[in-house]
Amino acid sequence: MDPAAPLIFFDSGVGGLSVLGPTRALLPNAPIVYAADSSGFPYGKRSEAELATRVPALLGRLVERFRPRLAVIACNTASTIALDHARAALDIPVVGTVPAIKPAAEISKSRVIGVLGTEATVRQPYVDNLAARFAADCTVIRHGSPELVELAEAKLAGQEIPVEAVKAAIAPMIDQPHGDEMDVMVLACTHFPLLADEITAAFPNIVQVDGGPGIARRIAYLTQGQPWPVSPPGGIAIFTAAHRAPLASSLARFGLDDIREL
Ligand code: DGL
Repeated sequence: MDPAAPLIFFDSGVGGLSVLGPTRALLPNAPIVYAADSSGFPYGKRSEAELATRVPALLGRLVERFRPRLAVIACNTASTIALDHARAALDIPVVGTVPAIKPAAEISKSRVIGVLGTEATVRQPYVDNLAARFAADCTVIRHGSPELVELAEAKLAGQEIPVEAVKAAIAPMIDQPHGDEMDVMVLACTHFPLLADEITAAFPNIVQVDGGPGIARRIAYLTQGQPWPVSPPGGIAIFTAAHRAPLASSLARFGLDDIREL
């Protein structure tokens, strides 16, 4: 294994940074390529058929170009729809991001949990299966919020996000039957942990759970024993459409100092 072989993180936008963050904490010397399909954003509005072909095709181009050791689909929408297609198309390990329903059900006392994702994710049979397997004795309330995805992008572009806007985006979930009993919320879109502080301010009594730290541990496990560069290398961020310059300082905070277009 070439020590310079990177890990690729893939999302529609900046959401995958919530998976990259905990991964960098565990593997500080890992070379990173962060790919954002900004010309396909937002994925939550796209059809299953479209994503099932688009995601493996883009990953294929990225793998050819960067020869990574492993790819992370750091997006719940893309993973719940296209993970199997991507694994079939690529000859490297592909780690997906799927809603953390199991850990949420393990800690819920009220037995009412929420799954907050994109509109595309919350309608997936993948979510039905996770709920049936791991939360059969819970009421599972689902809500798709394109507004929160936009708010997360805006926050990383340097805008101040009013707690009221976050509260309004989540309110339809609380208004569903038993919504007021919900004690744990699965952040089933990688954009949403980027708004963790605002969500806590809006709903201080609801515990948030997301997949980022678990995925980081999985990546560390899958790359155990592999060589890395001796010091932390710079990271690449690559966009499928002209990226918005205001993101540069947020990307730099995640070690991504080389910004390119695919
Ligand atoms: N970050 C993505 C997810 O985890 C999708 C956001 C979007 O493009 O709609 O689902």
